[in-house]
Amino acid sequence: MESKLRPVTTINGKDYLYFAGTGYFQLQSHSDLIDAAVDAIRKYGIGSATSRTINGTTPLIIKLENKISEFFQTEDAAYLPSGYLSNMAGFQALDTLGLYDVIFIDESSHYSNVSGAFATGKKVVKFRHLDVHDLQEKIKMHLNKGKKPLIASDGLFPIWAEIPPVPEYLKVAERYDGIVWMDDAHGVGILGENGRGVYDFYQLKSDRLFMGATLSKAFGAYGGFIAGNASFIKVVKSGNVMTGTSSPSSAMVGAALRGLEIVKNNSELLKRLRDNARYLKAKLKNAGVTVDDNYLPIVTFATGNSDKMQNIQRLLMEEGIYIQFVKYVGSGADGVLRMVLSSEHTKEEIDFLVASLIKLI
Ligand SMILES: Cc1ncc(COP(=O)(O)O)c(C=O)c1O
Repeated sequence: MESKLRPVTTINGKDYLYFAGTGYFQLQSHSDLIDAAVDAIRKYGIGSATSRTINGTTPLIIKLENKISEFFQTEDAAYLPSGYLSNMAGFQALDTLGLYDVIFIDESSHYSNVSGAFATGKKVVKFRHLDVHDLQEKIKMHLNKGKKPLIASDGLFPIWAEIPPVPEYLKVAERYDGIVWMDDAHGVGILGENGRGVYDFYQLKSDRLFMGATLSKAFGAYGGFIAGNASFIKVVKSGNVMTGTSSPSSAMVGAALRGLEIVKNNSELLKRLRDNARYLKAKLKNAGVTVDDNYLPIVTFATGNSDKMQNIQRLLMEEGIYIQFVKYVGSGADGVLRMVLSSEHTKEEIDFLVASLIKLI
């Protein structure tokens, strides 16, 4: 990638209409975020060269954590160097609080969710993708009497854009005095009435629900976070991840603050993103392509084998369009073709994508 992320992105010297990645509002290239990043570096330098728990917490980080908790309407929030680490820090803190004994995790959960679970040293049991019945069976098999489960999943699965049945997970957790953990890296900013993610989508509130996510996708910056009640966040902030890693780069803190503000104050961004998603899906459906009927900005399909899909990707590139051919957790061994919309694409750009794609599939 040789340009900023934008509807027309330069890859290996050539401009492509770009339908890939996770920059749902393409804030990664927004001039306000870039200015905020530069201002932050000028004031605080690149980084603190110490960890958060020692003395690396800047006023800007505190401001960002307040902004995150304001956005997600939680008591507090913790900012971390990456979304990958949010899972590890979250599981560790919940363990410190003694809130679970065994982790039950959706088998297609993101690498970081699975790594975070195993890093606890607790027993980890995988259940079938999105399958509440299998979850209950696995709990019956692996949870001893009086022990508590942690049920973990992605909030929005990045490949097929599936939303897990969180209300059902919560009911199961309540039955066994357990808790639920969502890695909502893809859900935040785009799911729910206010873009607060999967809990907002279901309008769920409970002391048993916990979440971590990233600022590197919808919010246009970088770094992970955990939003939640004050006693939980206090433990996250004093945990091993915060202690053992340098505090995040000032540039990203500045950019994240601005990204959150822009998403919060500009509801038309989310509306445009959803309009674009519905528009693409309706056009594909009219052309006889099977797609989910929803507002989510990810459209994925698998056709034939890897070679065929890679060929489709290559032929689209010859037409000046870039979509992803990707092998990732949840894609299966052959991989998938994945298209991602942003609020910044025009209808004409989407028309061109559909016209080119349907000639090839
Ligand atoms: C579901 C999910 N969780 C976590 C991450 C990691 O977030 P970060 O890029 O901030 O490390 C990603 C992807 O990048 C993701 O797709």
